Amino acid sequence: MSESTETRRPASRVLPHELPASLRDAGLANWVREPLDDAVDRRRRIIMPSAAAVMGTPASGYQGALLAEARHPDTVFMMGDNPALPVMPPRPTLADFFRLRFSKIARTHLLQSARVARENGLDEKVIMACLLHDIAIAGLLSANHGYWGAQMVAPYVDEEVAWSIEKHEALRYFPDESVGYTYPKAYIDYFGPDYSPPEYIRQEAKAARQHRWYMTSRLVTINDIYSFDPNVVVDYDDFEDVVGRNFRQPREGLGFDGSPVAHMWRTMIWPNNFL
Ligand SMILES: [Fe+2]
Ligand SMILES: [Fe+2]
Repeated sequence: MSESTETRRPASRVLPHELPASLRDAGLANWVREPLDDAVDRRRRIIMPSAAAVMGTPASGYQGALLAEARHPDTVFMMGDNPALPVMPPRPTLADFFRLRFSKIARTHLLQSARVARENGLDEKVIMACLLHDIAIAGLLSANHGYWGAQMVAPYVDEEVAWSIEKHEALRYFPDESVGYTYPKAYIDYFGPDYSPPEYIRQEAKAARQHRWYMTSRLVTINDIYSFDPNVVVDYDDFEDVVGRNFRQPREGLGFDGSPVAHMWRTMIWPNNFL
């Protein structure tokens, strides 16, 4: 790399020579953030990746090295706003999470699913469930996403909406020919043709099928968009009316209303907090 290129690097990049070899060799530069050019606080910040994200990967072996790095006087662990993320307003709404936290692909997936549900003339409860069904994947955790997602939204939506979000996790693996739902082709790509859901998922799906709200959750799986169309752009604003009628936005903001799930929303506001 030429000298001139080197000097143009933004201060937010970690220069390779500034990292100890142990971290550099392990590819851990991602977890060390240099202060932005205009930052008042000139300390570098270490992001300790969550256990759930790195367990079973080589990255889990470097906690010690990251802890040691944080002991330097000019270095602290990331706490509070990560300058790499947009700042959230003091009283965040569902719209703020869609716009300022969720990735484009996750946001588009949720909006496309809700759009299809609306085009199919379905009840607003189903549209709302489709809009939220993978919210945990969008902002928190992928494994067990139906359960995490249902818990996150339960205080703010109709019980049937939360239930259908939870149960879509199990139901999506099992066809229901009577309503035209077949096993998603995408899952053959994702999990291989030999994948078989574990017993607890089978039991969950079996029980859900007997429930009076079965069809609400089944409709979530039917309107779930398994293939992403990058050319379809759906604006969150198109669903403000549905959200207004079906999501009880807390006055204090999501994350600050003292609800049993407020910590989940705070985790999405400050996802890189060490503790
Ligand atoms: Fe899902
Ligand atoms: Fe989905």
